[in-house]
Amino acid sequence: MISATERASNAQPGFSREEWAGAYHNVEVEITAEPLSATSGSIPTELAGKLYRNGPGILERRGQWLHNHFDGDGLITAFHFESGQVHLTNRFVRTQAYEEENAAGRFLYRGAFGSKKPGGPLANVFDLRRKNIANHNVVRLGDDLLALWEGGSPHALDPQTLQTKGVTLLRGALKPQDAFSSHPRFDPGHHGDRRLLSFSLKPGINSSLKLMEFAASHERSEIEPGQLLHQRTDAFQGYAFLHDLAVTPNWAIFLKSNIHFTALPYLLGNKGAAQCLELTKDVTAQFWLIPRDSGRYAGAPPRLIDAPPGFVLHHLNAWEDGDDVICVDSLFYDHSPILGPDEDFRDVDFDLRPEMQLMRNRINLATETVTSDCLSSGRCEFPTVNPLYEGSDARFAWIAVAERKHGGDPLQAIQKLDLHTGEHMIWSAAPHGFVGEPVMVPSRLKNDEDAGWLLLLVWNGSRSATDLVILKADDLSEQARVELPLAIPYGLHGSWDSSS
Ligand SMILES: [Fe+2]
Repeated sequence: MISATERASNAQPGFSREEWAGAYHNVEVEITAEPLSATSGSIPTELAGKLYRNGPGILERRGQWLHNHFDGDGLITAFHFESGQVHLTNRFVRTQAYEEENAAGRFLYRGAFGSKKPGGPLANVFDLRRKNIANHNVVRLGDDLLALWEGGSPHALDPQTLQTKGVTLLRGALKPQDAFSSHPRFDPGHHGDRRLLSFSLKPGINSSLKLMEFAASHERSEIEPGQLLHQRTDAFQGYAFLHDLAVTPNWAIFLKSNIHFTALPYLLGNKGAAQCLELTKDVTAQFWLIPRDSGRYAGAPPRLIDAPPGFVLHHLNAWEDGDDVICVDSLFYDHSPILGPDEDFRDVDFDLRPEMQLMRNRINLATETVTSDCLSSGRCEFPTVNPLYEGSDARFAWIAVAERKHGGDPLQAIQKLDLHTGEHMIWSAAPHGFVGEPVMVPSRLKNDEDAGWLLLLVWNGSRSATDLVILKADDLSEQARVELPLAIPYGLHGSWDSSS
């Protein structure tokens, strides 16, 4: 399963479309603390904590399929690791819309990615209600597990049982109806204890961005996890779409892509809001560099510096190279990766999917210039570093990649990339396996940056169900595989929680 060779440049796709599309279905069961055994290998006894995954779990109601599975209701899957054992629990997030649609037995809301209510154009025109589907990410903050969707406020869940407590405003950090990013970042301890940084964006003709910094652990102070430590709000000219941020000890870094939003098709019900985002040459991409209140430049105004064009959703990491240079590694798409109204998520033409590059941008604050280098190209997503190296010059990255270097094939492999030398290695699940986001869990016994494990869910097309795969992070060898009694559609993001 391990290959250190280059990905094929123009080979034919090495997978069955039928097996790939088999992941698209509703999840019908909820499991509670079921003990699982490794089908192969063994679960490391050093792994102690919980892996949480989020993603869509309802894709069809009464014969109507969503336009895009990203519009599906959030399903949380939790794996509790202890003493070489693992237990599985999964629950839907009981959002208001999930309960309403369950009761009605049909879709009642439009989706951000183009899913429509039944009833034709008249049922959809000017219906601008937002369905908070709580399906994009899941993180632990204080006593709560947060199910996140960037168009609305978080839902708080019980970290053990996954029962939904309800919408949370994070002890007053948010106002009712405030959005909260689905991509918080954990500062591993640049200012003492671990912290969580996130943001609330109000896009418009001018955009407002609130940056929030919460205590995430209290090993070195008495401050309770979940407590808001800092917040600041800044106004920016023009429309902004921001999905992710990157964090260094002194800066919160945003990349406002050269994207515009065309409202009319959304208002008329012809497109979902996300389908109205398009790259444009009419505006300039910008880095928005916001000084952290806990850092050296607290209280200073944001720095705005022109950025390379491209559609950016996710960052890998960022770090400061001296006082004047910030390096930011980001995934750039050459056009929007969001499926249009005429595309079917179950029948995608992979050759038409956007090309992408992992780019390193070195931002020189003194000269206000940016130099760019391509670190990797080809279909890839879900980049991550060792979480203890967030905000530092991490040497290693792990990324989900396609088998073919060109085109937009499904993700079937995990790449370990040496950011200092450019060398890489690959673990592949092809031809029957389709991978999701790797979550890197550092070893507690070894200090090497690449010591630890990668935890990922793999859609196993040969048995039409999901496997939990544990890879050794250093050499990508397969440590263990657990065949789940669940068939989970392709998911989005997740996290590791080592707190009790
Ligand atoms: Fe994301």
